[in-house]
Amino acid sequence: KILANTVFLGKDVRYLTECHSTNDLAMDEIRKKSLNEGCIIITDSQTKGKGQRGSQWWSESGKNLTFSLVLKPVFLKPSQQFYLSKMVSVAIHEVLSAYSKLFFIKWPNDILHFLEGKTCGILIENVINQNNIEYSVVGIGLNVNQTSFPFPNVSSLAIVAGTEMRLQDVLEKIVGKIEYWYRVLKSGDYSKIDGKYKSELYQLDRWAYYDDGEVFKGRIKDTSPDGKLIMEKESGEIKSYGLKEVRFL
Ligand code: BTN
Repeated sequence: KILANTVFLGKDVRYLTECHSTNDLAMDEIRKKSLNEGCIIITDSQTKGKGQRGSQWWSESGKNLTFSLVLKPVFLKPSQQFYLSKMVSVAIHEVLSAYSKLFFIKWPNDILHFLEGKTCGILIENVINQNNIEYSVVGIGLNVNQTSFPFPNVSSLAIVAGTEMRLQDVLEKIVGKIEYWYRVLKSGDYSKIDGKYKSELYQLDRWAYYDDGEVFKGRIKDTSPDGKLIMEKESGEIKSYGLKEVRFL
């Protein structure tokens, strides 16, 4: 079934009852015979769902959204990769904030509920060609109707909103917003994306503990155009961190 509320995303939706990983599947297809922009690969259940930093993504079969969306952001240079992550985070956050005002974007791209915990994870994998991004596989794991989790600090929309929802409805909303924010990105309005991302950032300007090899007290001040997290340490020192260089405690 194709998505009806979008112009160019979700016009080719490939549904599988089970697969290893929708991200891997999308990448295989791209390598074999390319895919059109906007193609979505979605499944009820992944046997080898991938998370960030080589972790595994767990999701109860049929309860949640696990899908990959294929984009062709050839207008982006490799150094601008992080804008895809910002754009998708902002889009998903906008949808979830209709259910609760307590959702935040946790750098780099988790969507987290302040009281209940992580509700959505994003894994973006790019195909880079010479000087631009040829393909981007945007993998999204959004917990929708699952209500019990084997890990702490994980949640779902149903837990937050107190009611189950139709996966198709949530998918349409998410992809509709991604289409909107992807257009903003394409138009080159980076400051609009930066501004929205910053305004929804978890622990912005709040003193908390972090670990960059050593535990320290600091506060997040902003993110840089290349996606680094800019922090102020208690000592007054300003430091930027790339992926995996700092951990929230
Ligand atoms: C994270 O660790 O927060 C990222 C999780 C990303 C999970 C999604 S589910 C659909 C897509 N396919 C995968 O194998 N992973 C992503």
